[in-house]
Amino acid sequence: MLDDKAQASVAALETRGLTKQFGRGPKARVSVDHLDLTIQQGEVYALLGDNGAGKTTTIGMLTTLLPPTAGYFKICGFDGRKQSEKTKGLFGVVSQDVAVYQELTVWENLKFLADLYGIEEKKAQTRIEKLLARFDLADRINEPAERLSGGMQRRLAIACAMVNSPRVLFMDEPTVGLDPGARRQIWATIKELKTLGVTILLTTHYLEEAELLADRIGIIKGGKLLIEGTVAQLTQKIRGMRGISVKFDPRFFVEPEQRTKLDEALQRLRQAFPDALAAPEAVRIDELRNTVYFLSVHEALAGEAEKFFKAIYQWLEDEKLDFVRVAFGEPNLEDVFMAVIK
Ligand SMILES: Nc1ncnc2c1ncn2[C@@H]1O[C@H](COP(=O)(O)OP(=O)(O)OP(=O)(O)O)[C@@H](O)[C@H]1O
Ligand SMILES: [Mg+2]
Repeated sequence: MLDDKAQASVAALETRGLTKQFGRGPKARVSVDHLDLTIQQGEVYALLGDNGAGKTTTIGMLTTLLPPTAGYFKICGFDGRKQSEKTKGLFGVVSQDVAVYQELTVWENLKFLADLYGIEEKKAQTRIEKLLARFDLADRINEPAERLSGGMQRRLAIACAMVNSPRVLFMDEPTVGLDPGARRQIWATIKELKTLGVTILLTTHYLEEAELLADRIGIIKGGKLLIEGTVAQLTQKIRGMRGISVKFDPRFFVEPEQRTKLDEALQRLRQAFPDALAAPEAVRIDELRNTVYFLSVHEALAGEAEKFFKAIYQWLEDEKLDFVRVAFGEPNLEDVFMAVIK
């Protein structure tokens, strides 16, 4: 092992050119494409991306379930494949599907893992008790996992991943499918793990989750890392895309007649502002978020953005378009995400 000083300077996780291709020939699909990540010790890094972006495949490689097609990765300085006997003890993983043994009790799940890691009986006992307290499961120790709520099962899965005190924790969508209360509890858990110095790579498609938990965020699409940085840095990077967004009544996106009405109204708006809205990318319709983005209008209008803002309100009124809200100004993480992901 390295001494403490040397260890402190080594990145907790480093991937270089990490690539995974499934299939061959014309059917080949590159799911992770030359991923370069460097995550420092104690950092929480959120890999943000839509369905199929390559998040789980990345975690699969990092946890040695999937052999990479190309590239390498290091955990605390050790090569993840060539020195896997060294790296195995260094990380824990919470997979996308809760993987606890349903028929085993809470205690048995944890004990099973402690035995698997060869943790000596007394040490295991203390360790498990600590984890149960930390993850708020102490009063459920004799209950089979299947009787726990989704949120509790997720906490148990995290506790299981922490049994061997890993330095690095991989969490694949740790809060997917949980209600808001349970999500908040998981967030608190992750924050607590961070204070203990655990390095965490988590994946999510929840922007607010990434924003809340992560020191740095990387946005991945089609297996490629498109952009990364702190929330402030990401926002800074797309200053030029500052603009206006209008969230509409959902029916504009589900009823064809209403949609035609919106499209025609947009057409008229474009004609009214040919300078600001002529470029095809100046107006973007996000079907999932019921939102229309008017990008870069700031720059296009050279200081006339206020006027445009008022014009948008006028347009909404004239066209009798029901909207939920109009937002204007500094981009938030959602704007960054939308700007990058398009
Ligand atoms: N075993 C496999 N064989 C073939 N293709 C696969 C395999 N596993 C994943 N893929 C493909 O790789 C791409 C990335 O999938 P992956 O599961 O990593 O995405 P994800 O970002 O985790 O998505 P989600 O948010 O839905 O979990 C997808 O197009 C998927 O179909
Ligand atoms: Mg996934």
